Amino acid sequence: MSQFLSNCTADAMASAAGQLMAGDLVAFPTETVYGLGADASNSHAVARVYEVKGRPNDHPLIVHIASMERMGEWASDVPEYAIALARSFWPGPMTLVLKRSELAGDFVTGGQDTVGIRVPDHVVALALLEAFEKVGGKGVAAPSANRFGHVSPTNAGAVIEELGDYLQSGDVVLDGGACNVGVESTIIDCTSGAPKVLRPGAISVAMIEECTGLKTTESDSSIRVSGSLENHYAPIAKVLLCETPTPGQGFIAHSSIKTPEGVIRLAAPNNDEEFAQLLYSALREADTQGLAEVVVVQPIGIGIAVAIRDRLARAANGR
Ligand code: TXA
Ligand code: MG
Repeated sequence: MSQFLSNCTADAMASAAGQLMAGDLVAFPTETVYGLGADASNSHAVARVYEVKGRPNDHPLIVHIASMERMGEWASDVPEYAIALARSFWPGPMTLVLKRSELAGDFVTGGQDTVGIRVPDHVVALALLEAFEKVGGKGVAAPSANRFGHVSPTNAGAVIEELGDYLQSGDVVLDGGACNVGVESTIIDCTSGAPKVLRPGAISVAMIEECTGLKTTESDSSIRVSGSLENHYAPIAKVLLCETPTPGQGFIAHSSIKTPEGVIRLAAPNNDEEFAQLLYSALREADTQGLAEVVVVQPIGIGIAVAIRDRLARAANGR
């Protein structure tokens, strides 16, 4: 069993950073979802992340760093517009895919010549990354802290539910409460003349275009993004998107929509931001209650609603 730390003091952060250095895994909160971290320059530690997650090892991991000053160590030929994005939105829910430097080994990038980099916006994540840098660490490779294909965890209890059976005694789980954003970061490919969104998130196309002054293009399916598989982010319960709920089914919809008689309401968010925050814990709750089906009324509109619909479409394809 791993260590569970809910009191994230400076000492606790130093100890977790020490475990990372020793090649152990540290699950930590970010503003999007919880990540399962390993020393990004240690191939053995990174191999354990794939094992614990049950993830195919040609799927690249995101390298998390404490500040954009470290971007140059992991990436090369960083375009102007990527620097503008980093200045505007880091720390924050955005991952930049850049040409890799020599530091970014095949074991992190899944053999691609690019690397995903992110500065997360969460006090515990930043404290961990800073403590890790203090002991000589360069970056923390971390996927979402769930088993491959499952719903990402947005609180520490969900991390234990997902990975508790696979973690070892040197591993650590840091508890930083519930994630503020609730869906994974926007992934932006910055390897060509203009940014391309590979996965929608809280940083929207409109925000990217306004920041860079460039037209943002759509995803290129030749680049491997595991989160872009047709079925992903899925609970055990079947997710239904275009139906009226019937008694015994779970139900997730904006608070303005009433719960029909006999239907089990799992979340009633007041706006799209709350929808994103509550979505994954509501899908997990469906499984905890052993529900066979969950009906979701998707948010319309742009901004984070695009990311919510993207994840729901994949969740609806099932496990
Ligand atoms: O919000 C997030 O991004 C969370 C937190 C923990 O930072 N992380 C996360 O990681 O969602 P993961 O591994 O579950 O999803 C990251 C996605 C994967 O689908 C991966 O294939 C893609 O990012 N990715 C990573 N590096 C890439 C690269 N060099 N090129 C294309 N896609 C990349
Ligand atoms: Mg994931």
